[in-house]
Amino acid sequence: MASERPGANITRRLSCSNDFVTAWTISKARDYAIDHRAIVINPSARMAWVDAPVPGPLPPRASTILDHVAVSGDLLIVIEIHGDRDVVGRRVRELGWLDYFAPEGRGGEPGDWPQLFRSAQDRVGQVSLDLATLLSQPELANEPVTADVRVNLWYSPAGTDCGIHNQHDFIEAHTQVAGEGRMQKFRAAQPVTLYEDQLMRPGTTNPTPFCRRSADGSLIYPWHQYHADTDCLWLAIEYHLLPDRSG
Ligand SMILES: [Fe+2]
Repeated sequence: MASERPGANITRRLSCSNDFVTAWTISKARDYAIDHRAIVINPSARMAWVDAPVPGPLPPRASTILDHVAVSGDLLIVIEIHGDRDVVGRRVRELGWLDYFAPEGRGGEPGDWPQLFRSAQDRVGQVSLDLATLLSQPELANEPVTADVRVNLWYSPAGTDCGIHNQHDFIEAHTQVAGEGRMQKFRAAQPVTLYEDQLMRPGTTNPTPFCRRSADGSLIYPWHQYHADTDCLWLAIEYHLLPDRSG
């Protein structure tokens, strides 16, 4: 039994949990039972494993939907959806999620800006990243870099363009939780310059980080945005690189 292993299967409920989503982390997962259909994400840098009739790997930064299996890995995130999904849009407002584009103190009606809502954020642990491999940049040193992993949920209703941007001081990934959307890349900050659409369905994570690391250590992103085709709920996973303290 998973619970009989000392020091293993340390679970923590994430603050974005509510009446339509339950999310938690498992640290040092060892044969942890997934008893209900759930999205399972491996945000760590090492392979996780799914104990099924034919065991299978869940690679670093990948996700899938699992039911009635056991999982093992350094750090896993589990998300269950329940309740009436039609009420999610109303509930995120009632729960006080941040209305991301609402102009502070300037008034206006909610339809005047893109409807994008952000839950509270959790720090879920630290992982060791090999940036040369992760970013497909062999010129980067191969010494592992420690990253602080932070996660939060986002919600947007159908048809929302969530804003083209190209600035982050972290490596970001996104896992679709409910609805269908897309991560889009652009040549410039205008929608007509779209050059890549990564379709997102529940349980998928965009396969590779968007960014490159420059010589000065900063992260260079293409112009990009999330687009909600239907009412969408997705998880942002942020890898904040920590300063090298070895020197
Ligand atoms: Fe972004």
